[in-house]
Amino acid sequence: MQQMKFGKIIYLCLIPLFFSNYILADEASIKAGESKALACTACHGVEKSNNPEWPNLSQQSKKYLIEQLHLFRDGIRKNALMSPQAMGLSDQDIIDLSNYYNSIEATKGKVSASDEIIKLGQEIYRAGIEDREIPACISCHGPQGLGIDRTGYPKISGQHAAYLEHRLEEYKEDYDNRESYGKNFSIMSVISFKLSNKEMKALAEYLQGLY
Ligand code: HEC
Ligand code: HEC
Repeated sequence: MQQMKFGKIIYLCLIPLFFSNYILADEASIKAGESKALACTACHGVEKSNNPEWPNLSQQSKKYLIEQLHLFRDGIRKNALMSPQAMGLSDQDIIDLSNYYNSIEATKGKVSASDEIIKLGQEIYRAGIEDREIPACISCHGPQGLGIDRTGYPKISGQHAAYLEHRLEEYKEDYDNRESYGKNFSIMSVISFKLSNKEMKALAEYLQGLY
């Protein structure tokens, strides 16, 4: 009886120890990421990037960031500006940078398109288009567009419309090669393939103002 009590006490003492170690490790990684990100802020800023073609990274899903940086580093996802930035990153750099950007609270985006365009984007986002088998975006990206970190589904709200539109076009254009990018790219490629240019634009404009 006495022994069981003692065991229980030790167990209870270990729980906070376990969590504080976990939090400290994360904080150290975020701090390391902050200094490593100095090279990135020239284009990506902190809360917001400096150009609508360059994505905001703040509050982005950690798992998604890690995956994308690996894809750039391995030469699978390509971009003339971004690819050289990922070349020299170690696995630990990628983890630290992803922890850092994930920890920054994003600022809200603004709507800049007409009501008609926003309404079309909102409809597809919330309900999909049933007779063309286009799923509702909300089912994976969530009501506020924050994504699901555990699965690597990215945050897409508050993102620049120009970047989002370009990205949706890219998923569509690379439909035939989708398998080479991996499972998550394929999921989006199959969806984008069915969207018209007008629908992609409407979704991108709607998402820029969603929070
Ligand atoms: C010279 C400008 C530039 C610099 C510096 C830069 N990037 Fe990028 N980055 C871009 C552009 C442009 C894209 C969009 C590429 C595309 O359209 O596919 C991008 C895309 C990304 C993405 C994908 C985001 C998404 O939503 O899919 C990540 C992650 C990223 N950059 C991280 C970084 C990190 C970390 C650094 C610093 C080590 C960095 N970038 C430095 C220009 C830059
Ligand atoms: C079944 C789940 C699922 C559904 C439904 C879905 N997405 Fe996605 N989405 C994903 C995944 C997974 C990714 C990451 C793909 C990758 O790794 O490139 C993604 C990525 C994206 C990106 C790229 C984000 C970035 O930062 O580059 C955009 C934009 C996007 N989705 C928009 C949409 C829109 C618009 C819809 C509705 C028409 C939609 N998604 C429906 C799972 C989904």
